[in-house]
Amino acid sequence: MVLLYFAAVFSIAALSSAAPLQCEGTVKPLIIEDPTEIFGKWFLLAAATDYKVYQDMLKDLQSSWIEFSPLTANTTVLNQGYKMNTCIWTSTVMNMINNSGVLTFEFLGNTTGTVMETCPECLLLDLTSREGEHLAHSFYIFARSRELRLEYREEYLKQLYCLGLPPPTYVDLDKELCPYNEKNASSTDVSKTGQRLT
Ligand SMILES: *[C@@H]1O[C@H](CO)[C@@H](O)[C@H](O)[C@H]1NC(C)=O
Ligand SMILES: *[C@@H]1O[C@H](CO)[C@@H](O)[C@H](O)[C@H]1NC(C)=O
Ligand SMILES: *[C@@H]1O[C@H](CO)[C@@H](O)[C@H](O)[C@H]1NC(C)=O
Ligand SMILES: *[C@@H]1O[C@H](CO)[C@@H](O)[C@H](O)[C@H]1NC(C)=O
Repeated sequence: MVLLYFAAVFSIAALSSAAPLQCEGTVKPLIIEDPTEIFGKWFLLAAATDYKVYQDMLKDLQSSWIEFSPLTANTTVLNQGYKMNTCIWTSTVMNMINNSGVLTFEFLGNTTGTVMETCPECLLLDLTSREGEHLAHSFYIFARSRELRLEYREEYLKQLYCLGLPPPTYVDLDKELCPYNEKNASSTDVSKTGQRLT
């Protein structure tokens, strides 16, 4: 993991010393024609946020996976298993707004997330959360496998830079994941653990 941190520091140094970056077109929503593209399981690789409370939470996060499952045309189930010393599982029904292929999710607690352009087999969520008086901006990158190739990490860092977000917190990809099982990772459990938004 030392390598990861080194790469991050190096990249940021490179970014700040280089000629002004071309930010135009760097951060844009992804057009998703096939809904099945986002369904299934994703592993969190890194996250950046401008909100101190979230930054502190991210420091304690050891691993995290999420899973999107279809529910209705306009809703999806988000199952999550994340580790912060112990494992925590959540299951949430979210509104899914499809604006000509641009997908926006409405999470609990006044968070909306839009799917952005990123590396292949990756999922990038641009999240805005209302926390009382604060509006928190976060940028979470997930992938189908637990690896983030250097070139994609560079691309993600460039996007953060262009958005004016601070450097990300990387998830240690060697850390154990919370177990995934039928019992707490299936849409049938929503009535027990989830909350309906619609
Ligand atoms: C979004 O809607 C378009 C039609 O406007 C459709 O072709 C596409 O499959 C939908 N995408 C998702 C992810 O549901
Ligand atoms: C559900 O989505 C469809 C298109 O995907 C849209 O026409 C409809 O208005 C949506 N319904 C609600 C309640 O948002
Ligand atoms: C979400 O927004 C509504 C108003 O739209 C507000 O009443 C509620 O307290 C907010 N919830 C949180 C967790 O900020
Ligand atoms: C999910 O599964 C794990 C491991 O099998 C179990 O320890 C945990 O209690 C379950 N959590 C919920 C919310 O059902």
